[in-house]
Amino acid sequence: NADPRIPRIASSIRVIPNFPKPGVMFQDITTLLLDHKAFKDAIDMFVERYRDKGITVVAGIEARGFIFGGPIALAIGAKFVPMRKPNKLPGEVISEEYSLEYGTDRMEMHVGAVEPEDRALIIDDLIATGGTLCAAIRLLERVGADVVECACVIELPELKGREKLGDRPLFVLVEAA
Ligand code: PRP
Repeated sequence: NADPRIPRIASSIRVIPNFPKPGVMFQDITTLLLDHKAFKDAIDMFVERYRDKGITVVAGIEARGFIFGGPIALAIGAKFVPMRKPNKLPGEVISEEYSLEYGTDRMEMHVGAVEPEDRALIIDDLIATGGTLCAAIRLLERVGADVVECACVIELPELKGREKLGDRPLFVLVEAA
């Protein structure tokens, strides 16, 4: 990809070794958010890709998917739906479990937020193993929505999360080691 915005976005992401535990190289997008141009370029690149794809819902994954998902939804004229950690949403929810390195977690979505005719874009900051995006895909497909694509700022290709998504396309801005 020869887009000149990519290197600036990539270099605005700070890598913090051994967070949250030894051996993990944490990809910290808070430094991208401090760089107004890099943040705007990232949002613009997603908006350019999705503005004419008939997307009706942007599903943002807690927590950093909310930061990118809101501006994208506003710019492309879609509704925004939060995909949340357990027991955060006040209304009736459906939920999906997914596995972490140790144990499991659960993702929840409000009943009625997404309808069978909806065309969904799922947004998060990062794909590692792909378990989180898969749970979001299952929630959206359970209510009959069409998952058009998943999009992240960063992919860790070594973890092969992309393979877990089956035939749902994944678009990323930056690949990290
Ligand atoms: C991180 C990241 C993704 C997820 C990706 O979130 O923001 O949501 O992990 O991992 P996976 O592809 O292996 O499933 P985290 O679990 O740190 O939660 P947080 O956003 O609440 O900090």
